[in-house]
Parts: sequence; C-alpha cells; structure tokens
Amino acid sequence: VTWSTGRVAIDSTFGVAIVGYTEGRLTRAVDRALRRLEGRTGITFVRDTAPRDTSRAQLVVRAGKAGMAVQGVEEDESYALDVGTRVTLSASTVVGVMRGLETVLQLVDADTAGYYLPGVSIQDKPRFPWRGLLIDVCRHFQSVAVIERNLDAMAAVKLNVLHWHLSEDQGFRVESKKYPKLHQLGSDGLYYTQDEIREVVAYARDRGIRVVPEFDMPAHSSSWFVGYPQYASAPGPFVIERAFGVHDAVFDPSRDEVYAFIDGFIGEMAPLFPDVYFHIGGDEANGKEWNANARIQAFMRTKGFKDNEALQAYFNQRLEKILEKHNKHMVGWDEILHPDLPHNVVVQSWRGQASLAQGAKAGHLGILSAPYYLDAMRSSEYHYGADPLPDSVGLAPADAARVLGGEVCMWGEIVTPETIDSRIWPRSAAVAERFWSASTVMDVDDMYRRLSVVSVELEELGLVHESSSARLLRRLVPGQHIGPLVTLVSALEPVNLGGRMNVNPATQLTPLTALSDAAVPDPRARREVAALVKTFLANPAQGGGYRAQLTGIFDDWREQRPGVTALAALSPAVREALPQSADLADLGTMGLEAMGYLAAGTVAPADWKARATALLERAQQRRAHMRFAVMEPMRALLLAARP
Ligand code: ACM
Repeated sequence: VTWSTGRVAIDSTFGVAIVGYTEGRLTRAVDRALRRLEGRTGITFVRDTAPRDTSRAQLVVRAGKAGMAVQGVEEDESYALDVGTRVTLSASTVVGVMRGLETVLQLVDADTAGYYLPGVSIQDKPRFPWRGLLIDVCRHFQSVAVIERNLDAMAAVKLNVLHWHLSEDQGFRVESKKYPKLHQLGSDGLYYTQDEIREVVAYARDRGIRVVPEFDMPAHSSSWFVGYPQYASAPGPFVIERAFGVHDAVFDPSRDEVYAFIDGFIGEMAPLFPDVYFHIGGDEANGKEWNANARIQAFMRTKGFKDNEALQAYFNQRLEKILEKHNKHMVGWDEILHPDLPHNVVVQSWRGQASLAQGAKAGHLGILSAPYYLDAMRSSEYHYGADPLPDSVGLAPADAARVLGGEVCMWGEIVTPETIDSRIWPRSAAVAERFWSASTVMDVDDMYRRLSVVSVELEELGLVHESSSARLLRRLVPGQHIGPLVTLVSALEPVNLGGRMNVNPATQLTPLTALSDAAVPDPRARREVAALVKTFLANPAQGGGYRAQLTGIFDDWREQRPGVTALAALSPAVREALPQSADLADLGTMGLEAMGYLAAGTVAPADWKARATALLERAQQRRAHMRFAVMEPMRALLLAARP
C-alpha cells in the first residue's frame, strides 16, 4: 500500500466502466458494489443504460479473464488498485476484481467536502489460498437466507470457502433422491432441497466463494441411520439425537453393502457440489459399537487390524477410492491421519498447529481450525493472534507450503438463525485478515479500530450480529424499556460450549432466547473498561475525560439494578440475571469508591478490601451461562485501592 495525496470524489456523477473481459458474474459484482456505495453515501448515481463510457468513468474495472470454471485453491485472487485522478481496479481474474471491489468499499471516506476515495496504490494478494468459514447447520438448521447473508459477509472480508457441515447425529440436511429416507426421516423436515443447494452454490460462486460439503462419517452419523439402520454397526433403531456431544452411532466398515450405499450417495452429491474437495468428517468415532459387534471384531481379526484406528483407516481408504472415482479429493479431521492414508488427502486440524504440522510433514495438505472455534467464546484478539503457521511449529518451507490456510468454525449447538451472526461476526473478520494478510500485520488496537467499522459495514448486507441482542432483550420484556438489561448484558459474555454444557445442558430442543443468547462474545465493554482503568491507574490524581467516562460507566452499572429488578418482577425469564445485576451494581459502587481513594491518595480501609475481595470472588462466578467480561480491569482497580 502506498498512500498519495489525491482523491476521487464520490458524487452523483460517479460511474463505472468495465473494460477488457466481461461476463455476468463480473457485472453483477460491480452492480452490487455500486449499490452498496449508494447506500453508504445516500447518493443516487446516474445509471447508464448505454455501454459505459471509459472517459467519463471514475472507476475503471479491468479483468483479464474469467478465472477457473470451478474455483479452486489455484484461483488467482490478486488485484491492483490505483486511486489517482480516477480509480483503476485491475485483476487477472473476475475473482480478483471482486476482492478489489471490497477494498474500494473499505476505502470510502468523508469530510466536509463530501464522500471520496483517498489517493492510494495497492498491490494485493492473499497469503493463504484456503480461507474458510465452517457453518454447522445440523445441531440447529440455518435457512438459505442465513447462509446467503453470511456468504455476503464472507465475500466482504475476502473469505473464500464455505465449509457446509451437512450431516450430524442431530440432523441430515440435504435432500437425497436416491436415498430419500435420509432427509425424510433424519431432518425433522429441516433440510435443503437440491435446487436450494444449487442456488447457494451459485450464490457463493457469484461472490468468489467455494462450497465444500461435509458429510461426517463414520461417526456423528445417527441421523443417517434413522432411515437406514442397516448400515450402522449396532442393530438400532436409531433416532435423531437431541443431546449434544459424542454419540455411539457409527457406520459398519466391515460390509461391502455399506460402501455401495456410500458410493451411491457420494455419486449423487458429487455433481451438486462442484468443488473438487469433499469433506468426510472422520472425527470422534468412539468405537463402542465396533467393540460390541462380534462380526466386526471377527472382521478385524481376519484383516489383522490391531485397533479401531486401523479399522477406521481401512474405512477411510475405501472412502477415498470412492471419492476419487467421483473426481473428488478427500478432506477429513485430524483423526483420519494414518500412515496408510494416501497423501492427496487433506487434513483439517481441530487439534492444533502441532497436529497440522505432523500431517504436513507426512506429506498431507492441511487446514487449521483449532484456534478458530467460535464456540470457545474467545476474543477477536485471541483468534487474530493465532497464526496458521507460527514460527514455533518449525516446518521446512516445503512442508509449510502444504498448509493451505485455515477455517473459522461455527458449530451449531448454541446458535439459532437469530443469534448465529452474533457468534460469527465480527470476530471472523479478524481471522479473515489473519488468513489474507502478512503474519506481521498484528497491531491489535488497530485491528479493533477497524473491526468496529467493518462490523457496521457488514450490517448493510443484512447481517444481524449488531442488532440481534436488543431484539432478544425486547422479547424478554415486551413493551418495557430495555435500557437496564442492555447495560447489564453489555458487561457480560456467554460462556463457552463446555461451560454451557456443564450446567443445565442445552439440547437441540432448548429455546435459545435467554439473556446469555443476547450477550455477545468479546463485548466492547471489555476493552473499553480495560483501557479506561489502565489510563486512570497510570495517574489517578489527574483529571481528564477518561475519568468522567469511567465514572459514567460505573454510574450506569449502579443504576441498572433497580431497573432490572423491576423488569424481573414482570418477566420471569429475567430473574436468572438478578445475582449478576446485583454484582454489577456493586462493581460500579466499589469502582467509584476505589477511584475516590486513589484520586485522594488515601488507602481504602481493611474492611473495604475484604468486601472488594468477596465481590471479585462472587462476580467471577459463571451464572445464567454468562460471565463478566470486565473482571480483569475491575480486579486491577479494586486491588490498587488497597494493595
Ligand atoms: C470436531 O470438533 N470434532 C471436529
């Protein structure tokens, strides 16, 4: 990036010329970008019906060629962007133009003279060719509309693979004409028709995004066996599982008719999903049904298999041959890694960088997911700091080159169509930058500054991550003002999946409409309070705007309590938050007191310290599936008042 002093104004005369190669996918991408630019600025551009005249265009777009007929990891996504007297965007492929258009939209700025694009020259290309987002639509089904708005958001941050997790113990989500009992009996009626699959794949291609389906085998497979129990390792009957976790249902690797069934199924799915990669899962086979089945045990003895890993490796080898027959490359989770597995199999690591490196050294291509599990409810900062290729793994360049990139994972246990965006975004935008940009781009403060802007820009695509919280809170207290609940929830974050399953575990049938569903991971208050406390503690006796800000936050914390108490009297669903409402009010009170002691240069009394310590202890507890996101700075502040 080289900045320059010029600018190109964005006004009603703004026009685009497409020169060189063109096609519908390109003009649609340009039209969508223009529409968003109009939305951002409120300006109606003059729309030429005649072919656009290059000499009058402020934005000239030039693509060399279409790019790959079926987008692959080899796709050229590079682009060059120059904002001088006009904007020139050139790329070798249409996909490169799409990436550049997103950069143009991110560059839009404004001042008293109006909207403009600042002078700049950019040469850009991704660090990793595989930059994915996994969406699990099995634990909770997600409609086509939810998937499509997330595809729009992915394109906006230059992610390029939708990993669509389509079968699980809790649901089978694709229509099969060949084996109709899969979706008829395995989905509660919540599945995508084949026309819908084609629609989503086309929608993704229009945005330069590949779609990699995952059908998890041999385990995580209860829903297949509701309709086809004959392919399982236990007699059944099987049901759609409502509980989450690892279940026992597993394909029987010992019988040829099982492979004939899988062959038939993959043969049906292969043309629906044109991507050359096909994910077969392979994770968390607990082997219980294999151990309990005398015929499978006899089969293992005949084959000389020493353990279930060997049996699963045999299954995977046969699966891999089926996939190659249908012109697909196999992708699977870490567990598939085995010396007997062909090297062209891609390993996706949910176990960590070391596991990924092990695969790469063994000659496998790899994708990293372990540090990008969104259900861990970690901060954007945490995910941003996790490099797919940290120096610590010490891979030789040839092995490192096998790491294709990474995928953010949105597992579906605790998300609904209403809350899923707020778990994916904006955190995934930070990871998208990790996958695209150089490893040296890691200024966390700058990342958060930009993330808060990008987050709002994603809303223009229909994403509800910024708005779903208030909507859920309104439903908890119909007709009432939600202000007190907003204050309370903004200081809290949802616990991670493990924590959520520890206490009063959710199932697929649990309504996800509680306060913890309205709480969002990595809330703004976490960084805001931390920064204000840090500044205050650096010089407590000094005045300054930050002091009034911190005082204002503590006052709000105090004031939410009577409001939340009144709402809880009307709305039983709010009652679970009363202890945390009381704690937050106490944190506000003691925060103000600590500021007072520190500003006056006096030491808080001993009994005050005892109360502060007890409060910190209490507020640290997870309750109602939430925890306070502000504990670190509050501990620092309270303990500073009486060390
Ligand atoms: C996984 O998390 N079991 C892939």
